[in-house]
Amino acid sequence: MPSLMDRLNDEYRAHVDRLLAEHDRDTAMALAVGAHWEAVGAVEEGVLRLAGLTPDTDLLDVGCGSGRLAARLGARHRGRYLGLDVVPAVIEYAREQHPDFEFAVTDGLSVPAPDDSFDLACFFSVLTHLPHEAGYRLLQEAARVLRPGGGCVVSFLELAEPNHWPIFEATAASIGVARHHNQFTHRDDLALLAERAGFAVERVVGGWEHVVPIDGTYTRDDGEVVTSPARLGQSWMILRRPAD
Ligand SMILES: C[S@@+](CC[C@H](N)C(=O)[O-])C[C@H]1O[C@@H](n2cnc3c(N)ncnc32)[C@H](O)[C@@H]1O
Repeated sequence: MPSLMDRLNDEYRAHVDRLLAEHDRDTAMALAVGAHWEAVGAVEEGVLRLAGLTPDTDLLDVGCGSGRLAARLGARHRGRYLGLDVVPAVIEYAREQHPDFEFAVTDGLSVPAPDDSFDLACFFSVLTHLPHEAGYRLLQEAARVLRPGGGCVVSFLELAEPNHWPIFEATAASIGVARHHNQFTHRDDLALLAERAGFAVERVVGGWEHVVPIDGTYTRDDGEVVTSPARLGQSWMILRRPAD
């Protein structure tokens, strides 16, 4: 019998295969990360700036997908960028678009990097697809590869957030359908896992809090205009590896 991790990774690969069968490649690659390519990319960058991102930051992007954040950072980013994902098709696409950045396909549990090698790590909409055990393993890996004082941004779906509840209802309604896993949590549980993985919790922000400074005005695919200060949609945390 395949392991739970193998099944989860296969579900995501099958999800991307379905999108590629139904859409042109660019559209499929945008849908694979949840659409709203430019608007969410801008807000993700804004969140990372609140966690300390500068153009010289060495950044680890776990679950980078087809490169929404990489596209946003682009040539302005001078530090190292490493994007990881379990789906070869999205990594192939991201690598084609951003030959100056590094990308790798992983097993979904490990980070192929030495200890103390990044300033900042991010998990945008990644622990939202993983059981707590797998999320915990990845947080341990992030704590390992971050330098002392390094930051980590994690977005999550909250059972207690009224704006996330319809997503939970839809997830519950489709539990019998073949699709990728959606994981909801309570912020206190995620904070506990992060602390056990070696982080201090620096900031916790609800998904509907408009606190993210962004440059410019964007329009999401559903027509919503995004201005500064923006909301991410998913809730998020800034974690910090304690300085030695
Ligand atoms: C909703 S997308 C978000 C992509 C990207 N972080 C963004 O915000 O644009 C979730 C991504 O996480 C990837 N993923 C799922 N499980 C993973 C794991 N265990 N390790 C790394 N990536 C994973 C999926 O393949 C998918 O590309």
